[in-house]
Amino acid sequence: MSFPHRHLLGIEPLSPSDITAILDLAEQYVDLNRAEMKHSDALAGLTQINMFFENSTRTQASFELAGKRLGADVMNMAMQASSIKKGETLVDTALTLNAMHTDLLVVRHPNSGAVDLLSQKVNCAVLNAGDGRHEHPTQALLDALTIRRAKGRLHRLSIAICGDIAHSRVARSNILLLGKMENRVRLVGPPTLLPSQIDQFGVEVFHDMREGLRDVDVVMMLRLQKERMDGGFIPSEREYFHRYGLDAEKLACARDDAIVMHPGPMNRGVEIDGEIADDITRSVIQEQVEMGVAVRMAAMDLLARNLRAARDKRAKGVMA
Ligand code: NCD
Repeated sequence: MSFPHRHLLGIEPLSPSDITAILDLAEQYVDLNRAEMKHSDALAGLTQINMFFENSTRTQASFELAGKRLGADVMNMAMQASSIKKGETLVDTALTLNAMHTDLLVVRHPNSGAVDLLSQKVNCAVLNAGDGRHEHPTQALLDALTIRRAKGRLHRLSIAICGDIAHSRVARSNILLLGKMENRVRLVGPPTLLPSQIDQFGVEVFHDMREGLRDVDVVMMLRLQKERMDGGFIPSEREYFHRYGLDAEKLACARDDAIVMHPGPMNRGVEIDGEIADDITRSVIQEQVEMGVAVRMAAMDLLARNLRAARDKRAKGVMA
């Protein structure tokens, strides 16, 4: 299984075969996670640090569980209480991490590009757990695994990504991944919530939910990211739900076997009706959470193999 990368910073640098390598290995970890004994020693002896400069529930918990199940020593740095608040730069943080002999670093940061910058200063493998509006690669990978398992394939599907696309790194990473795997992607939302250079994405755009959902295989809803908005994006949450919230009537426009996805956290009654979210015949939202742990185990395992191989090579070079 080849995965020729030092870090996982985004979907953009990955090839279709890199994506398939992660998903195939993740399948094995789905089985491990469903077993009574959930341990492997793929990361034994390695140190994993999770640094979340932005709030997170499922992503952080899932990276922590993933590392522990693979036998790493996992530490969550409390960034709210850290020296960053005292004005330490990202580069000083990187030097500290190097001195602690960190092997895997998982970072979430509010600024697009900050995780990439950090990756250039540290000696370890870096995984992007979401940077600003830029990328959230493990989310797109777990979504891909969920789709592949539900639909039996990850190509030639029609997928609608709906809602607050402008503020969403999840949407961006998904558009990249689903495009690379040769699916038809539609973006559905009000003009105020669509990114400005939309024609670069190679997608179809709809402002009407019913038209946008017509005959799609997958309906991917996004959270209305109120914290990234500075007013004027939507008239009111009630009006938004009326026009863009996923309810049974709008979902009826999609294929009968269309699945419903949401990365969480959900605003029930704003972008999605609670009953649809909980309908296990349509919604795969809980599967997405389950796949998240497996995909993160696979990504860290592949990066750790490369890290060890590079270290072995260097050690041999020193001896020669
Ligand atoms: C997403 C994120 O943080 O980008 N959540 C997640 O990782 N599950 C999406 C969101 O915050 O709406």
